[in-house]
Amino acid sequence: MDAVFTFFGRLHPLMVHLPIGFILMGLLFELNRKKLNPSSSFLKFIYFWATISCLLSLGSGIFQYLQEGYLWDEIQKHFYAGCFTLFLCFGFYLFLKGNLFATRIPRLFYILSLFFSLIITGHLGGNITHGEDHLTEPLLTLAGSTNKIKVEKMLSISNYKDQPVYSGLIEPILLNKCMRCHNPKKTKGGLQMHTFNALLKGGKNGSVLDLNSPELSELLNRIHLPELEKKHMPPRAQKQLTVAEKEIISQWVRLGASEFKTLGELSFTENQLVSFMKQNKKEIYPVLNIGPPDKKVIDSLQSLGVLITPIKEGTNLLFLSTINFKAFSDKELNVLLPISDNIVEIDLSESAVSDTVFDILSKLPNLVSIKLNQTAITGLGIEQLSTLKNLKRLHLINTNLKAESIPILSNFKEIEKVYVFQLNRDLAAETSLHSNTLERIDFGNYSLEDLPSDAIVY
Ligand code: HEC
Repeated sequence: MDAVFTFFGRLHPLMVHLPIGFILMGLLFELNRKKLNPSSSFLKFIYFWATISCLLSLGSGIFQYLQEGYLWDEIQKHFYAGCFTLFLCFGFYLFLKGNLFATRIPRLFYILSLFFSLIITGHLGGNITHGEDHLTEPLLTLAGSTNKIKVEKMLSISNYKDQPVYSGLIEPILLNKCMRCHNPKKTKGGLQMHTFNALLKGGKNGSVLDLNSPELSELLNRIHLPELEKKHMPPRAQKQLTVAEKEIISQWVRLGASEFKTLGELSFTENQLVSFMKQNKKEIYPVLNIGPPDKKVIDSLQSLGVLITPIKEGTNLLFLSTINFKAFSDKELNVLLPISDNIVEIDLSESAVSDTVFDILSKLPNLVSIKLNQTAITGLGIEQLSTLKNLKRLHLINTNLKAESIPILSNFKEIEKVYVFQLNRDLAAETSLHSNTLERIDFGNYSLEDLPSDAIVY
């Protein structure tokens, strides 16, 4: 039965267009009453169905509210306006029937009120689904004054560590997603967030940050509740926090919710912050003027089952993968040499190549990315890759890579990331490295963070 109610509730956004249609039609006839001279029974018919469809809309709206966790605060104005529209439709229907009580009110009053109440109800309804500034936002942007703060892309890679977590990240996130309802003018739940001290003070149920057991903080509790829960924040149908934003807020609260500690001090990593970084627009592929590859070589490789495609339309730079030809071995490597300049990305994962591969790969001067995952390589001869001026990514996951090879990788000037995760081996523990090289080496020992909900005992 619950499912039926939910279904009926979800019909609401569709259903509301029925009364809108009937009422608009009635109003248009009213405007042209002299010319069209609609009969009274025709108008009664229109307002009868306007009333019925208003009732259905109201009913479905109530079910939507009950079933889908909207806040009463958010919908009450829309609800009252909808009731008023229903009341006017029925009133005008009675007026047309000649009801003594209804005819005491002038016709013009019904018509004007219906017009405005239709617009207001519709607008308030739209605000619930699309957010209050949905309509005005494009206009504000036109006027060059949008008070929306873009949280995204505001840290830069070079100085992010010195940014205080609160003013650099938390405050802009709260401003964007929470402060609309939690400020001195509109203080929902008695909670204000416009300053750090206001946030510390908490809401009508006391502090929202529990510094003794941070995991139990009401703030974290609210943002981690399922979205359909009434107490979930921000309320349903509002712009939600992203996964990265929730993670940032959680880590900040867990580490004591300090006002001045920096991202560096609280050990936020570059990986966690990518979505807040100004994007580095630099293309990963070099600008190269290279002629088309030898068609015969391409054909012979393709007939072996090797995948070769241009990295994008209209370029002679190639991506090569042996994923469909796992028997690809050292013997076949020489076949690549005639098109050595063209290959910028190569994926030899799961193939039968050995350490000889490094010698050949060092002869493909434009390589940007190399994948050798799940091959038998040990890293012997890997230093030859240091001659590759554009090599940015190197994937060596689940290989026989020796720990001695790791320090060699630190000599690679352009490299951005080397992935060296090994199943059943802790390569990081076998390696002693300078910390600024470590950042470029991804050992993949990720651990899942604790969520506040983990602490709940059911
Ligand atoms: C659309 C308005 C709205 C937005 C946006 C909003 N809230 Fe709320 N918030 C409310 C209302 C209404 C209440 C009171 C009802 C309740 O307790 O659920 C409330 C209550 C709270 C409370 C409980 C305060 C107390 O002491 O009881 C917390 C904590 C909270 N909000 C956090 C947040 C956070 C964090 C965000 C942003 C991620 C946010 N809210 C965004 C409307 C909003």
